[in-house]
Amino acid sequence: MTILTTFLNISLIISLRSVSNNRSLEELAWDLRLLFQLIKNNDPDIPQENYTRLHQILTDNNISVDTALQNLSPNCEDAFQRCKWKGEEKRCESIFEPIKSSEGFCCTFNYFALKNLTFSRILVNRVENRPRRVSACGYQTGLELLLDNKPHDYFASHIPSIGYRIFIHNPYYFPDWTLQNILSGMKMLDLISVTSTMTYSSDTIRNMDIGTRDCLFPTK
Ligand SMILES: *[C@@H]1O[C@H](CO)[C@@H](O)[C@H](O)[C@H]1NC(C)=O
Ligand SMILES: *[C@@H]1O[C@H](CO)[C@@H](O)[C@H](O)[C@H]1NC(C)=O
Ligand SMILES: *[C@@H]1O[C@H](CO)[C@@H](O)[C@H](O)[C@H]1NC(C)=O
Ligand SMILES: *[C@@H]1O[C@H](CO)[C@@H](O)[C@H](O)[C@H]1NC(C)=O
Repeated sequence: MTILTTFLNISLIISLRSVSNNRSLEELAWDLRLLFQLIKNNDPDIPQENYTRLHQILTDNNISVDTALQNLSPNCEDAFQRCKWKGEEKRCESIFEPIKSSEGFCCTFNYFALKNLTFSRILVNRVENRPRRVSACGYQTGLELLLDNKPHDYFASHIPSIGYRIFIHNPYYFPDWTLQNILSGMKMLDLISVTSTMTYSSDTIRNMDIGTRDCLFPTK
């Protein structure tokens, strides 16, 4: 499961300096909103010069696009107030890891798509080496989270709404825009369940012509 935290905090924008030009803080902040366009370039009407200005700001500050986005997005510690796994309270930073997805920086739980993913900061020796599984139905045996939406520090977002986007996916899949996602709004209790489906073939398909069957057996 991956939680998209891509909104930009204005308080963090203040920490960026504009060295070579005389732009006000407000102008600087508006230019930084363009960072979103670099994730999903879906507005052809933005003039080229705005991108040039953004590039200049980043160059002046000697920071990359990734670093800027990472610093302006809320971090996982700020986003999560409380975390429980199977009813047991956990330190959120020990089960959530910041990752880069096709939608920007996210916090992810139970993610194994990148083999070298490490919980570099904390509890390294207690990292699971394969996906966690629930042992029964019901929210008490799953993951419970208390999220802080920080509605007063919400300068830019992908969608015109306050809330976190939650992507439910296979632990081995890279989270991208094709996944079903849920918007978790403010002052809401969301109960999200997953229904699993298994598809298998019986042995009789061995007799089918390979062109019709369109797959090989492991032994072939
Ligand atoms: C910035 O503004 C000040 C005063 O308005 C001016 O003296 C200075 O030359 C400007 N600097 C640049 C790099 O434009
Ligand atoms: C592009 O820059 C101009 C001039 O600063 C500004 O008025 C306009 O709002 C910017 N457009 C976007 C989409 O940021
Ligand atoms: C820019 O950052 C890099 C890496 O952090 C550093 O090696 C380099 O010296 C910096 N350049 C300037 C001009 O500050
Ligand atoms: C993880 O692996 C990817 C792909 O091999 C590589 O680009 C990235 O630098 C690695 N990250 C770390 C922290 O080793």
